[in-house]
Amino acid sequence: AITNSQFSFDKVKEIADWILERVELRPKIGIVCGSGLGGLGDRLVETKIFPYSEVPHFPKSTVVGHKGNLIFGKLNDVPVVCMQGRFHAYEGYSNALCTMPMKVFKLLGLESVILTCAAGGINQSFEVGDIMLIKDHIAPLLWTLQNPLVGHNDDRFGPRFPAVNRIYTKHYRDLIKEIASEKSLELKDGVYSSLGGPCYETVSELRGLLQLGADAVGMSTAHEALVASYCGLKVLGIALITNKAVIEYDSENYPNHEEVIDTANRRAKDLEELVSEFVSRTFVQ
Ligand code: 6GU
Repeated sequence: AITNSQFSFDKVKEIADWILERVELRPKIGIVCGSGLGGLGDRLVETKIFPYSEVPHFPKSTVVGHKGNLIFGKLNDVPVVCMQGRFHAYEGYSNALCTMPMKVFKLLGLESVILTCAAGGINQSFEVGDIMLIKDHIAPLLWTLQNPLVGHNDDRFGPRFPAVNRIYTKHYRDLIKEIASEKSLELKDGVYSSLGGPCYETVSELRGLLQLGADAVGMSTAHEALVASYCGLKVLGIALITNKAVIEYDSENYPNHEEVIDTANRRAKDLEELVSEFVSRTFVQ
């Protein structure tokens, strides 16, 4: 067996136990900060911060815009654990490794996870800076044997043949729409497609994704959402549209990481406030 077995139950438990010995806080919700969205982590108070280099079996976070800290603390008075930076397949990490934190979350006793990411907008009605609630995903890499659930299945995490039509929890989507509307914040709704990166997509690839029903495209999140849901965690996925994917041939425009980070920085505050309010309504102390 290939990928799954790289993080056996015992190995994940070793990580979770290491953490549990060092923190008293017992959060029910985890937050993963996407590119340029690490500011969420900086909002936590009464924190205990573990740089990834200190956590057993955690790799380094190598991407600009990803700090690489596992932070326990309180967000809006609610205990949370926050990944300030995530692991991507394009860094050379297996999908099993990229999704390992979801299994750790499970063994830490979490019930839910909020996954945030930067994404390119394919839907032509999307503007740069829009916030898109993820209602579903299209992830061609997960159709292959690179799916992180390939390999020996440990039923203590989840079932051999998990259903994936209800990954993005309906109740959470309804709640965040309600919060956005109260804040007069426009929230788009759409399908996130995930490819491996590190390159952006060709025009033809993007046109294909559009035809498949994708509204946004990125390099993360879908495999994490899959494994989180497999582990029985409820998932909220939010994509920040940091740039327009170029679907015109011979356009002079092109996507670039600086634009991604700039937009993320510019729109981070609204996204952080949405997440913060969501957390306090979901986990009333
Ligand atoms: Cl256009 N493509 C991908 N794969 N990821 C992105 C992006 C585009 N824009 C931000 N992240």
